[in-house]
Amino acid sequence: MTHPAATPSRLRVLTGDTPTGRLHLGHYVGSIENRLAFQDVHDCFFIIANTHALTTRAQQSEAVRQDVLQIAIDYLAAGIDPKKSTIFIQSEVPAIAELTWYFAMLLGYGRLMRNPTVKDEIVMKGLGENYSFGFLMYPVGQIADILAFCADAVPVGEDQVPHIEMTREIARRFNVTYCGVDSQADDAAHAEAGVFPVPQAMVGRVAKLMGTDGKNKMSKSLDNAIFLSDSAKEVKKKCSRIFTGRMSATDPGVVEGNPLWQYHDVFNPDRAEIDDMKQRYRAGKVGDGDCKKRLAEVLNTFLEPMRQRRAELEADPDRVMEVLYEGTSRANAVAEQTLWRAKQAMGFDFFPRRVQVQIKRT
Ligand code: TRP
Repeated sequence: MTHPAATPSRLRVLTGDTPTGRLHLGHYVGSIENRLAFQDVHDCFFIIANTHALTTRAQQSEAVRQDVLQIAIDYLAAGIDPKKSTIFIQSEVPAIAELTWYFAMLLGYGRLMRNPTVKDEIVMKGLGENYSFGFLMYPVGQIADILAFCADAVPVGEDQVPHIEMTREIARRFNVTYCGVDSQADDAAHAEAGVFPVPQAMVGRVAKLMGTDGKNKMSKSLDNAIFLSDSAKEVKKKCSRIFTGRMSATDPGVVEGNPLWQYHDVFNPDRAEIDDMKQRYRAGKVGDGDCKKRLAEVLNTFLEPMRQRRAELEADPDRVMEVLYEGTSRANAVAEQTLWRAKQAMGFDFFPRRVQVQIKRT
């Protein structure tokens, strides 16, 4: 079978993750689930953004390396199939780094600083005034991740939408500046006459999954996440600690804005059971404990096949590296072509270059 990456007529999808730990349920419903559906019908590229991880973890490059493997294992365990999609490592695709430079010149500093996700992250990560120059560069790098693959669609969680918005602006600005595309042109005209199509964000079934703290979105750094790789016991414990704000089992329970019920709604396929339980919860006729116990069962049923695949992959790290190696080779072939077309448009096509593809790792 030819790999879909060799079939350019398909819709191109690109998304990915920063390796700052393992993936959790929020990632799953925000994006992974979409990827599983898309890999059957589109040409999918999934980037493990290890250079991005350095924006806040420059001192921990070895840990980032380990997290790259963990994310790759999460992908494969969740069902991303390397025969259908391309999984690759950001730092090993040099065209992305080069495009980052060119795009940085097209992006105003003020525009970047008004990006709400950048502002939120500075607050959420407690960076204060102490963020690196590279931290500010990461959205530009993300623009390059997407445009290097001429992606049409980018499946992401809600928080990433401002970055996709900026990507759309830069794609247009590049096409207008270097390809003679009219500044009023629509997306179709950009795709036709520009180097870069104007990509669209695709937010998943659940734009924002609450954390077990019942306050923030699920996030590793806030210690409120249930990971895809958590053991059955951990899942049970985390479920038992979900914050619902309810004092006693006979209090009328509040369903809205309650993570316990958001998780049931999202992961429990038995609608009738949920409706019945919610009704009793509201009436003060069922305790948190029972509903949490049931949730833990639901989540463990969902996660168990992933745990099994994860265990197999952990026992075979060479196979994981092989997937990453092959994916990265395919990614380089595409990104190099895009970079060359971009440089042609800019008149920077001084010398064609040949990337040496090493067949065997040493
Ligand atoms: N910034 C994204 C996150 O932290 C990860 C990411 C890097 C990404 N490059 C990307 C997502 C390109 C979509 C497209 O979740």
